[in-house]
Amino acid sequence: MDLIIRGGTVVTSTGSFQADVAVDQEKIVAIGTDLKAEADRIVDATGKLVLPGAIDAHTHMQMPFGGTVSADSYKAGSRAAVCGGVTTIFDYPVQHKGETILGLVHSKQEICQEDACSDYAFHCCITDFNDGAILDEMEEAVAEGITSFKCFLVYKKEGMMVDDGMLTTLLERAKELGAMVNVHAENPDLIDLRTEKYLKEGKTSAWYHYMSRPEFVAAEADKRVVHWASHLDTPVYIVHMSDKEGLEACIKAKEEGKMIYVETCPQYLEFTSDVYKREDGRNFVCSPPMKGEESRQALWTALKAGFIDTVATDHCPFQSYEKDWGKDDFSKIPNGCAGVENLYPYMLSAANEGKISFEKVVQVCALNPAKIFGCESKGELAIGKDADIVIYDPEKDFTVHVDNMHSDYDHTIWEGKKLHGYPVQTYLRGKLVYDNGEYVGTPGDGKYVKRMPRS
Ligand code: URP
Ligand code: ZN
Ligand code: ZN
Repeated sequence: MDLIIRGGTVVTSTGSFQADVAVDQEKIVAIGTDLKAEADRIVDATGKLVLPGAIDAHTHMQMPFGGTVSADSYKAGSRAAVCGGVTTIFDYPVQHKGETILGLVHSKQEICQEDACSDYAFHCCITDFNDGAILDEMEEAVAEGITSFKCFLVYKKEGMMVDDGMLTTLLERAKELGAMVNVHAENPDLIDLRTEKYLKEGKTSAWYHYMSRPEFVAAEADKRVVHWASHLDTPVYIVHMSDKEGLEACIKAKEEGKMIYVETCPQYLEFTSDVYKREDGRNFVCSPPMKGEESRQALWTALKAGFIDTVATDHCPFQSYEKDWGKDDFSKIPNGCAGVENLYPYMLSAANEGKISFEKVVQVCALNPAKIFGCESKGELAIGKDADIVIYDPEKDFTVHVDNMHSDYDHTIWEGKKLHGYPVQTYLRGKLVYDNGEYVGTPGDGKYVKRMPRS
């Protein structure tokens, strides 16, 4: 046996119990009390929680965007991931006109083979059908384990937007292939109109990033996505849900049995649009922006009630000097914030404080993304699954500072956030990769996660 973790409290999606966990050849091979086997490494987890590694289903590593490239390379971002208990990331390469899905994804796989510190999968963002060739190629992509595709209903000027015709074509094609479409839902025309208006009026601060795309601007697009997916009877996954009205439309559709999956992010659970009134408001600029307190509360309520399927980060950091490009013009701020290392600690701290259960955190941060996106060997502590394991000390207090993170960015929206409880070790398929504040793995440890289509 390679590893036995003894005496911890094992947390699954349905319950918690005292047990030992045995690992051999990258897999969990036994879970039980007082396992008698010998092992090369024995870890005493008394007083600790033993959890499945989290899956961050939404990251943008070294992504060309906003006139620059997001600040975390695959190496830095996936290193930060495992240091926060995330053992699998789903990245979003963006296909542009003339590019093929597999050409793009293979180029990312090449980088990750050398650099990835966590396991990795890809959702491919489609921005152009290349005269229909992309719709054919989606089948080959699914065969290679890329079983989800994203589209943006925004970023029109950036040439990344798809219209309703393309969205509905993608939804129907994905259904044929057993794939999923992930959608960034905001209304592009309203955003452009309002942005222009505020800039003309000299209203240039980060607050007007929020004002140009407030609740109702996102809600219209959320409802439109629900409408198309419901009528076409296709599954759809709405990324980074942030607004109450759109969320309510999703909940209603879910209650009617529609295949609507909802992701939110820690930043929408923690912050409100008030952050954009701060001197450093530009650092919080992401799309969709943080919304009002009513939306924030609605997200927590929906999470507790089981209407939020996943919590992921939309990790897309930029350096301070890049955020500063928009000091006098909010439209020039590169959109995106850091989060991959904060996801699990933030959600687990919420559980530790009694706001939600630990089992709920396992559901939304591990099991549900694994199930929704077809990662058969991930998402749970169970015999036969990959030994992606996090040991969590519920008594360890931790304050987030950019200096105790493991990314390449120079600031974080989570600066100063106090957490009660923190991961102390992360195992990636049985290999220790994070140990009490230190990254101890080797870049290249991460493997590609080939996913299964939906049946
Ligand atoms: O502001 C964000 N979210 N940047 C990354 C791209 C996206 O929209 O997901
Ligand atoms: Zn997005
Ligand atoms: Zn994103």
